[in-house]
Amino acid sequence: MKVAVIGGGQNCEHDVSAASAASVRSALDPASYEAVALTIGRDGRWYGPDGRLLDPTVAGGLAAAVGVLRTCDVVLPVVHGPLGEDGTLAALCELANVPYVGAPVRAGALAMDKWATKLVAEAVGVRTAPGRLVTSESVVGWTGPVVVKPVAAGSSFGVTLVDREEDLDLALKTALELDDRVLVEEVVQGREIDIAVLDDPDEGRRTGPPLEIVVPGLFDTTVKYDGSAQFVIPAPLTGTELEELEEAALKIYEALGCRGLARVDFFLTADGLVLNEVNTMPGMTAESQVPKMFRAVGLSYPDLLDKLVRGAAG
Ligand code: DAL
Ligand code: MG
Repeated sequence: MKVAVIGGGQNCEHDVSAASAASVRSALDPASYEAVALTIGRDGRWYGPDGRLLDPTVAGGLAAAVGVLRTCDVVLPVVHGPLGEDGTLAALCELANVPYVGAPVRAGALAMDKWATKLVAEAVGVRTAPGRLVTSESVVGWTGPVVVKPVAAGSSFGVTLVDREEDLDLALKTALELDDRVLVEEVVQGREIDIAVLDDPDEGRRTGPPLEIVVPGLFDTTVKYDGSAQFVIPAPLTGTELEELEEAALKIYEALGCRGLARVDFFLTADGLVLNEVNTMPGMTAESQVPKMFRAVGLSYPDLLDKLVRGAAG
């Protein structure tokens, strides 16, 4: 079976996506799959399986890329962030009529938008941090420590934990450089617990084991990729906590209309669970959270990819 693996992308997570895609390509079992690499440059131009620029005279190579996609049986779009994970690649696959792994257009778009995710989550009874949506026009008064984040970005790019009023303006400016809509949220004190939902073609929809992120401070962009964060799998939780976590993850996954796979990130506070965000195409290197979670329960990385591809191929 030919699997198009799309990596790269036009946002600040380009390198993360490229690393995820490279890992995916090398982990797909060559006995069953032929991986066809497609890469989106930071400037939006597309590169083909041989690493060469696809015909840039037609829509930056997009037309040629669609031609390649149409020769494949399944697409695995491993592009995190806007213009990838936000439903745009799903839309491309829909229009090209090629099956693809992961969230359909609407779920990708909703989950990429942290404000929309918050509204959906609250509507189905999953708590999120109290927060407000601001733009460059907004007047934001000081209400105490807050987290400032772009509505649509990933890997914590543009996110600042603001402890002092005098740092608020710079934090807003930083976030507004990545998106014209920004979330200002109350700081949540709690343990960071992630859980994955997998549509397993053999066993049906199920959650993976919870993962706790243990870091001395904030799990920011640097800590995310410098190897200093520790993942504890399974996160030590009580039976009730685990049940609530699984239930909340499935509830938001269903409410957003996710498919295939998602990693749902929570804080476990003294007052219970608070949703942080939903990643419809989470980090997928061999050392990323999701492959590690499933490996801990006996599902290898190649077998996880096999399930995702088979699930999409139908
Ligand atoms: N956005 C990154 C890739 C993640 O959540 O894993
Ligand atoms: Mg993310």
